[in-house]
Amino acid sequence: MAKGLDVGTMNIVCAEMEGENVVFVQQRNAFLELDYSDLTKMMLDNANVQYVAKGDKIYVLGDDAMKFATVFRKSTRRPMKTGILSPEEKEAVPIIKLIVEKVLGEPNYENEVVCISSPANPIDSDIETTYHRKTMEALVKKLGYNPFTIDEGLAIIYSELADNSFTGIGISFGAGMTNVTAAYFAAPIVSFSIARGGDWIDENAAKATGTPKEQVCAIKESNFELKYEVELGSVEGALAIYYDYLITYVVENLKRKLTEVTPPQVDFPVVLAGGTSKPRGFKRIFEEKISQVGLPVDVSQIRMAKDPLFSVARGCLIAAKTKEE
Ligand SMILES: Nc1ncnc2c1ncn2[C@@H]1O[C@H](COP(=O)(O)OP(=O)(O)O)[C@@H](O)[C@H]1O
Ligand SMILES: [Mg+2]
Repeated sequence: MAKGLDVGTMNIVCAEMEGENVVFVQQRNAFLELDYSDLTKMMLDNANVQYVAKGDKIYVLGDDAMKFATVFRKSTRRPMKTGILSPEEKEAVPIIKLIVEKVLGEPNYENEVVCISSPANPIDSDIETTYHRKTMEALVKKLGYNPFTIDEGLAIIYSELADNSFTGIGISFGAGMTNVTAAYFAAPIVSFSIARGGDWIDENAAKATGTPKEQVCAIKESNFELKYEVELGSVEGALAIYYDYLITYVVENLKRKLTEVTPPQVDFPVVLAGGTSKPRGFKRIFEEKISQVGLPVDVSQIRMAKDPLFSVARGCLIAAKTKEE
């Protein structure tokens, strides 16, 4: 059986087999803290919402937190920031444990293998990923599973590049981070992360235009398209500028990292995944940057993952099944 678990800054996704099909269970990686009162408790019970009561607080988790934030006029909080457990959030570990429990469910049997995605070490910040990785492994082990981790970029390669013997470049453009892996027969030759992603685009476009970042994010997620011409001064224009900046930064760093190793002289297809890669026009801009900057490998093609939001979880599932066999 085995399961794949994608632990992202915005979304936590579990993948498992149901007969011949892969099924996904997803929750927002967010929570809402409410003061305990009989009225609040009754409202949540009536709405059939699961929550946990702790001391004088009530915690609503995942997608329900997003739904009830407006009802209670409170902001949701997030256990993770820039790809790892947030050092600024004191409830990070107990809350993420509950959300992981929600998506993974009980093991089908003792010590069922789970492959968890983990960020690679970033090149542009002092973020250290060991604590995050070890804590996630320990949480999943506590639930009765036998966990191991792989880099998020490698998960994309497992998911999308079986037809090329798991050789190529996988890039996950997430909320908190961008993760990049180049692999040769499933062995990483370059793997790194960049502490910038969708959140970084939202924050900067919000600052530049004086717009609340929730509003910027909503515009970005609904029908936003990366066009040739941008309307200067608009939120869309600012989004396009930061998209361009992020993609350029990723491609330049990929070039630099590949130059440091001696990559084998074979075709390296590139697969793009993650929520941030979803706007129309994203692939075109990426292709343009690759041809401008040039990589020290033969890029045979550039394509989008079939399902950008589920690709990492699917790759983790494939890695877990391979290990269990
Ligand atoms: N249709 C869309 N267009 C642009 N960005 C999107 C879209 N859907 C989701 N996103 C962005 O993708 C990011 C979440 O993607 P995801 O791969 O789940 O990230 P993570 O793995 O970090 O949780 C967020 O920044 C979100 O705003
Ligand atoms: Mg992700």
